Amino acid sequence: TTKIILDTDPGIDDAMAIIFAEAHSEIELKAITCVYGNATIDNATHNALFLKQKYGLQADVVKGAAKPMVRPSVGATVVVHGESGLGDFQAPDELSVAADPRPAYQYIIDALRAEPGEITLVAVGPLTNLALALEAAPEIVTLVKEVVVMGGAFGVNDHRGNVTPYAEANIHDDPHAADMVFGASWPVVIIGLDVTEQSFFTKDYLDRLRDDAGEVGQFIWDISRYYLKFYSEKVGLEGCHVHDPSAIAYVIDPSLFTLREGPVRVVTDGPAEGMTIQKFDKRKYMHDEWQSHESQRVGISVEDERLLSLYRQTI
Ligand code: BDR
Ligand code: CA
Repeated sequence: TTKIILDTDPGIDDAMAIIFAEAHSEIELKAITCVYGNATIDNATHNALFLKQKYGLQADVVKGAAKPMVRPSVGATVVVHGESGLGDFQAPDELSVAADPRPAYQYIIDALRAEPGEITLVAVGPLTNLALALEAAPEIVTLVKEVVVMGGAFGVNDHRGNVTPYAEANIHDDPHAADMVFGASWPVVIIGLDVTEQSFFTKDYLDRLRDDAGEVGQFIWDISRYYLKFYSEKVGLEGCHVHDPSAIAYVIDPSLFTLREGPVRVVTDGPAEGMTIQKFDKRKYMHDEWQSHESQRVGISVEDERLLSLYRQTI
């Protein structure tokens, strides 16, 4: 099994990913570290705590960063994930479980130090918590097993963004943090829009999950109503892409994805702010700062049918 810390901004597809990670025997969900993004940090943490209580998760829930490192806050994605972060669904105010008292970046550092080489960080929100951890304890690059990130878009299918024409939401929320995380000398696998937009939870797929997967299927169906309305009205799809659950799917079965090697950078300002770029050719350029940059792996294709059946079987 793989022990993971899931860094997340729940978030409708984040909740789908948390439930997936908890349900699959290949994964031990050690902690859920929260970050602003789809919702405010308070709502994101509350939603994670709600899931911990509802499903009796052993995972610690930890509150993390409230805003990006450098750029001004973009603000919660209310049009996609609703005011609460879980669409029309509102978790009760009073919960019987509480967050770990540490800030998320400190929790991550402590956990990696306690179990060197054992923990995979899976990040499916803005990368602020990971970057803060790197800043405070650079040696964690040698302590982590692997870092799996849902974020970015590399133009593989001539498509480069979902919040701007050139940026994906998680990276756009904190481009400086993302550039630090991708540039650090630890092994990163990036599952971006190039692959997450190749898999679809269609309206039918979610209906069947509701009919066949008991209470959990019903819950996923309930929270996805708001998300599907957004997709139908704004994206023109009767269903949704499979963003955050794809990062979990990679941890369970890496053979679902084809990866491409090469250094990755993030544009941190200007009109392409949040754009992710990878150098993957072998040519030697005259002005080439990329040569000294850490090589990472980026998902460029996915076996979507297999991924969809893995999710369905697990749930
Ligand atoms: C990413 O942004 C968020 O809206 C989703 O939860 C996902 O992590 C997709 O661009
Ligand atoms: Ca997310």
